[in-house]
Amino acid sequence: MSSKKKFCETQKCLFVILVAVAAAIAAICVVTLTDENLREKRSLESLPWWKTSIVYQIYPRSFQDSDNDGTGDLRGIKERLGYLSDLGVGAVWLSPIFLSPMRDFGYDVRNYTDVDPLFGNMADFENLISEAKDKNLRVILDFVPNHTSNESEWFYWSERGHKKYKDYYVWSSGIECAAGCDDTGGRRPPNNWLSVFGGSAWKWSGIRQKFYYHAFLDSQPDLNLRNKNVQTELQDVLEFWLQKGVDGFRADALKFMFESPNVTEDETGLTDTFTWIEADNHNLTTNLPEVYNILKGWRAVLNKYGKDKFLIAESYGISHEIRDKYYESGSIPFNFALIQYLNKSCTALCMRDVIRDSLGGLNSNWPNFVLGNHDNSRVSNRFGPETIDAFNMLLLTLPGTPTSYYGEEIGMRDTFYTYNETKDTAGLNYNETQYMEHSRDPERSPMQWDDGLNAGFSNGTPWLHVNHNYQLINVKAQKLADRSHLKVYQQLAKLRQDPAFTHNSVQFVNISDVGGNDKTILAYIRAQKNSDKYLVVMNFGHQYANNVDLSKGAGSENGMVVVNAMSAYQKEMIDLKSVTLSRGQGLVIKVM
Ligand code: GLC
Ligand code: MG
Repeated sequence: MSSKKKFCETQKCLFVILVAVAAAIAAICVVTLTDENLREKRSLESLPWWKTSIVYQIYPRSFQDSDNDGTGDLRGIKERLGYLSDLGVGAVWLSPIFLSPMRDFGYDVRNYTDVDPLFGNMADFENLISEAKDKNLRVILDFVPNHTSNESEWFYWSERGHKKYKDYYVWSSGIECAAGCDDTGGRRPPNNWLSVFGGSAWKWSGIRQKFYYHAFLDSQPDLNLRNKNVQTELQDVLEFWLQKGVDGFRADALKFMFESPNVTEDETGLTDTFTWIEADNHNLTTNLPEVYNILKGWRAVLNKYGKDKFLIAESYGISHEIRDKYYESGSIPFNFALIQYLNKSCTALCMRDVIRDSLGGLNSNWPNFVLGNHDNSRVSNRFGPETIDAFNMLLLTLPGTPTSYYGEEIGMRDTFYTYNETKDTAGLNYNETQYMEHSRDPERSPMQWDDGLNAGFSNGTPWLHVNHNYQLINVKAQKLADRSHLKVYQQLAKLRQDPAFTHNSVQFVNISDVGGNDKTILAYIRAQKNSDKYLVVMNFGHQYANNVDLSKGAGSENGMVVVNAMSAYQKEMIDLKSVTLSRGQGLVIKVM
């Protein structure tokens, strides 16, 4: 037997060990409590997820094709969830994935509770949702309550006057017509209301011998939201998907939900008899107040499944008064100011005013900003490719929930399609010289993953061809590069988890006060009590901004560059008395 004492037999020795263990635990606690990330995490945990998450919009047809039929699908999206979580987004919103004849690429729903085979099946959806949850990603579905496809069962029975369904849609006998109405039973539409996609909003049904109303395509008949059964059916749809575990909905075209019940009245002062102009008066067909009760009903359904379900509503160009009513009714209305009120000639000052105006009067209502989507030209095309980082910086450092459109993180550009290549009916409703103004195909081109076949989107023939620039602009290249749009985006996504960015106020720096050119530089402070203080500064002007003094606005002369978009600065200490940036350059600076 060995003469060596067994390890620690004496009481003294045990005591020493106990003391050592206690000291180690205490040390771990101290380190943990002072660990910045954890502290931040703790403060973030008290906010609902949608206050700290970037919403990333996926247009499923165009994101990733898994079966090489040329159209993106749910399995494709699932394969890319890792990319999304690395990118730093917290939620994905999927444009419609439901059974559809695809006249408006899914915004014409045939059956709200079926997955279209083009995108996969219900098991694929369930797998996607469960894998997303594993990766801490939320899933938001598109909800299209204003209209269905004319191929839906509801419309089939409505057209045939079925007792239950006959009032599911908006029907009118129209007006007797003296001549030229042979195809419409000798009648013409009851009024001059226009479809958003051009032409009369009324379409004759030979079967029903009446006109039906369609705010969008004639293959998208508007539901009659005044019908209680319709209201219940739609709530059931929400329940169906909530039971599958979705985290919320983006509700489509809400301002079109109700029309005046008096169809004999014309809209007055329309600019054109064919083209629907947003700026015209559409009092009889948009923004009727009946929508708020519907929203409240949806909120009640959502709340049954938890307090943190998200509901974001699409209604362009609404007044602040209407905006506030959307909030009151339990939804967040998309704020499209950055899409609608900015253009290439908007200076930094003009941008500040647009942002201020969107935040104006929100009080405790949670802000949000959107930079792009499947209905609008991409950022690079609207403002110039040199501005992509600055715009992502703006979106991700402003207060509230940001919504990013797929591909903007790498600066994808609109893609040109000839008339013959065009797929979007909104474009094809016009002729060869006009279609480009209306087609939304350019912003829907396939995601550019790498420099391989079809940019890694599909090994088949993509439904829309990829942009010819894919060998230069793609995820793979931007991952490899030291500096890239993708890297800037990732850094911003990470940074905005800092408590300085997760509250709803922003303090603009007055540039002209310090002799700077406020047409070029947009700068603001993000900070909150006990948080670090950040200065965000971007050049949106058309001139070089030289030696701008930001020290007064920042309350300090020193800062540390933490995110750098396009400029020559390194991640270095910077003299806030003299900051120099040219168009499209931007910095996030931690004020020291
Ligand atoms: C929304 C969608 C758009 C669609 C329209 C009709 O505006 O974003 O893509 O065409 O509604 O559903
Ligand atoms: Mg496919």
